[in-house]
Amino acid sequence: MKVTISHIKADIGSLPGHTTVFEPVVDAVEDYIKSNGKNIISDYRISHIGDDIQITMVHNHGVDNPDVHGLAWNAFKAGTEVAKKYGLYGAGQDLLKDAFSGNVKGMGPGVAEMEITPRKSEPFIVYMMDKTEPGSFNYPIYKMFGDPFNTPGLVIDPNMHAGFKFEVWDIIEGKRIMLSLPEQTYDLLALIGSKGRYVIKRVYTKEEHTKLPAENVAVISTDKLSFIAGEYVGKDDPAAVVRIQSGLPAAGEALEPFANSYLVSGWMRGSFNGPLMPVGIKNSRMTRFDGPPRVAALGFVLKDGRLAGPVDMFDDIAFDYARTKALEMADYLRRMGVFEPHRLPDDDMEYTALPKILEKLSSKFEKLSDLNELKEVQ
Ligand code: 13P
Ligand code: 13P
Ligand code: MG
Ligand code: MG
Ligand code: MG
Repeated sequence: MKVTISHIKADIGSLPGHTTVFEPVVDAVEDYIKSNGKNIISDYRISHIGDDIQITMVHNHGVDNPDVHGLAWNAFKAGTEVAKKYGLYGAGQDLLKDAFSGNVKGMGPGVAEMEITPRKSEPFIVYMMDKTEPGSFNYPIYKMFGDPFNTPGLVIDPNMHAGFKFEVWDIIEGKRIMLSLPEQTYDLLALIGSKGRYVIKRVYTKEEHTKLPAENVAVISTDKLSFIAGEYVGKDDPAAVVRIQSGLPAAGEALEPFANSYLVSGWMRGSFNGPLMPVGIKNSRMTRFDGPPRVAALGFVLKDGRLAGPVDMFDDIAFDYARTKALEMADYLRRMGVFEPHRLPDDDMEYTALPKILEKLSSKFEKLSDLNELKEVQ
């Protein structure tokens, strides 16, 4: 029988700035799920990174189910009430629409869900990022499922040797394309290097996969808050679910991309490049310059609709070096202040005072041609 893993997350208020979640709010979300989820889901876990509360649910209703989405939406609503009571910053920040209409997509919360045929042992990892955007998963997901220098299983495990299919979304024009690896590796990389536009949405096994033909094995939330709200309301802070082992990347292959901290867009006011730092949940408070951007990974095993775990995968000394490197990068970049490439280019900044400043200064700009100075700049 098919089972669905639904991971739904939202920022519904934080303490004191966009730093961290507030325990009574997390408790309110959990209480709601516990009291109202019994006939809808078979198991769940609540977690958080930075200021984002994360709900991982297991059920038999398939993706986009109104009851499952409604449960998460109403749990976030219940949490928002508590956040408002305490006057938390950005209470209800990601709940962008007033009335729930059957699906949280396009309403603010991020969603990563997939319907799967569970294997005898069904291990998976939930990744949660704060202070960054969905395209930040492009690099690690490609590494896990496409790069044999990261995932030797692609070469030495006969079950993985055929490669994987990648579903990539153009989130600016709202279209998608399927690319098959390894044959179309260069085409995939040509797209997903532009991480603000082309984002990996799902990964599938191929028909010829010996253990899991044509199954969804990874899914990433791609919700763009600014497109929903029409203005900056916080970064999209994505999450992903990745199935692992037996014909898929091993746990260690699914963590390996994060051993090499890389630059992502987000950080302060959603307008800066910064290093993605892998952390355990206890180190997921967003402090320095509202960051640096972070990723946490929770390991689970699913059996008969029940979850064992989570294991806090980056809460380990093996990632200390990656953290140190990330902090060195953060230090280096911070010295640049508002200069690119630390600050994002104008078009990518989540908010900017530039149009107002240009308006104010427009009458004071002097034409170089009028001043006979043009020759010098030509
Ligand atoms: P074990 O031999 O510990 O099961 O590990 C197998 C493996 O594939 C590790 O990557
Ligand atoms: P969040 O997207 O995590 O709410 O952060 C917003 C922000 O502007 C941080 O500086
Ligand atoms: Mg926030
Ligand atoms: Mg956040
Ligand atoms: Mg956000």
